[in-house]
Amino acid sequence: MCGIIGVTGRDGCSRILLEGLRSLEYRGYDSAGVAVQTADGLVVVRRPGKLAELEGVLAEREPFGRTGIGHTRWATHGPPTQQNAHPHVDGPERVAVIHNGIIENHEALRAELVARGVTFRSETDTEILAHLVSERIEAGDDLGQATAHVAGRLDGSYSFAVVSADRPDELAAVRHQSPLILGIGDGANFLASDIPALLPHTKVVMPLEDDDVAVLTPDKVTVTDVHGQVVTRPVRTIDWDPVRIQKGGYRHFMMKEIEEQPAAVAATMTGCLTDDGFTIRIPALDALGDRLAQLERLTFVACGTSWHAGLAGKFFIENLVGIPVDVDYASEFRYRQTQAGPGHLVVPITQSGETLDTMVALRQAKQGGSPIVSVVNVPESAADRESDAAIMTEAGPEIGVASTKAFTTQLVALYMLALDLAGRRGALDAAALRERVQPLRRIRYAMEGALRHADAVRDVAHRYADARDFLFLGRGVNYPIALEGALKLKEISYIHAEGYPAGEMKHGPIALIDGDMPVVVVATPGRVYDKVLANIQEVRSRAGKVIAVCAEGDERVAAQADEVLEVPRVDEDLSCLVNVVPLQLLAYFIAEKRGCDIDQPRNLAKSVTVE
Ligand code: F6R
Repeated sequence: MCGIIGVTGRDGCSRILLEGLRSLEYRGYDSAGVAVQTADGLVVVRRPGKLAELEGVLAEREPFGRTGIGHTRWATHGPPTQQNAHPHVDGPERVAVIHNGIIENHEALRAELVARGVTFRSETDTEILAHLVSERIEAGDDLGQATAHVAGRLDGSYSFAVVSADRPDELAAVRHQSPLILGIGDGANFLASDIPALLPHTKVVMPLEDDDVAVLTPDKVTVTDVHGQVVTRPVRTIDWDPVRIQKGGYRHFMMKEIEEQPAAVAATMTGCLTDDGFTIRIPALDALGDRLAQLERLTFVACGTSWHAGLAGKFFIENLVGIPVDVDYASEFRYRQTQAGPGHLVVPITQSGETLDTMVALRQAKQGGSPIVSVVNVPESAADRESDAAIMTEAGPEIGVASTKAFTTQLVALYMLALDLAGRRGALDAAALRERVQPLRRIRYAMEGALRHADAVRDVAHRYADARDFLFLGRGVNYPIALEGALKLKEISYIHAEGYPAGEMKHGPIALIDGDMPVVVVATPGRVYDKVLANIQEVRSRAGKVIAVCAEGDERVAAQADEVLEVPRVDEDLSCLVNVVPLQLLAYFIAEKRGCDIDQPRNLAKSVTVE
């Protein structure tokens, strides 16, 4: 939610901020703004709507300034108007602030400021920050001290950055439960809420920790705690290629990312295969030593698409390792009396590594004594740093708001986790493990095969793009795929869709089926194949239109379905990786046909760092 960027020490600052905001726009796109230091003081430009609106205004002049901050907003307090767009300024317009998160005690602080005569111009929780920092500077604090002092008065989750006309080369910022990363450059320094915004300028980053206060000048970065004590934070080099955050000729990031999946899945396996290539051994898990042998149960905690991956993970672990598995929404886990402890492994699954609910669940489980193994995509994110071990999905930057390659790399990571645990705990012998590793290594080719059917999926999508509702059915490891297919369609095409376990249909949802209801059924070979065929019959008997995901050349399914979305034939366990591809494509092509904004669906934002 909300993207923030700051730079000090680079000519053409307004352009650099805009470019940074472009790569952060997936975090929110309700309004955007910048505040840039100039010889005449702070120049603040803000516009409601997509970044293009701000771009249009800034294009009227040459890039200007060397130091400034920029923001792209996902509205929480106050509608997406110009008045509520960040940066927010103090009365004399000498201090400007951008903020990501929610300040829970903003009403009390606002009342206090109003009582002191401050006039507010917006409905946001953020504006108080500009006035409070301004007051502290008036009282003699420097920018860092003022920022630290104000942070000490806040409840909630936030990262914010400040510039002051009195310190034309300085940026100050603080992090508290919302991501903030510094970029260390040559004669220039940067800050951003996400690594991709820093990559065009530097690969050397310093992730801040909660309650760190940073002061940046072109030549120096100082980090203190809120009491002003200097703290040292490790500097890391990120090897993501900046080219990967560009569209590279695609109309949408989502399609680029769908097509990147085979390579991303293969990259996620790299480093986890033993030298002979026959066994999975995840090096990160070695850190847990004997604790893995003593596990009695496992819980996945995640949100949204990552939660769907957890459901597939349950299938893998229960089948291959034989320990009981729960899959919890992080937002539910955190508000229950959950049983943590040394024998209970908790596995947060998160692309961003910053989702607030997932992070709170992680911390709660850790505090209860559970070992934590995260499945995470963004290196140096909070989940990566705070876990006992992190299995990195190598999807690279995922920019499309609807998650695709992060999901399939999570599925692979979870399958590898199951194989690794099965090996370490002796649940499967070497021969049984080897039997499963070979198909896993080949799965990327089956995913490529599924992508080759894209034109056929487009034809089907165009025939059903006007449907009002969709039902998605699947069983076993493909039940999460039905949920994921429905979520993708909802998110980017705004068509109402429900995912259901196919066997449950007769307990309720069957009442919805009529001639206007397309029902997407995942019907690839496996233990429940015949059962799924029976479910297809149940739909047809009620005049429902069946769109079946089936193995190439499967005539039994083709004879019963109205439409088929063919995929290469693979082992049942791994079929989820292949079957999700046509469903991602179906959602994409339907949304495209309906003229929807595929990469930036309404109301959504990537990386949900508020509750
Ligand atoms: C859906 C989607 C979201 C995320 C969810 C969790 O396409 O992207 O449902 O999966 O917000 O995000 P992470 O995985 O970053 O914790």
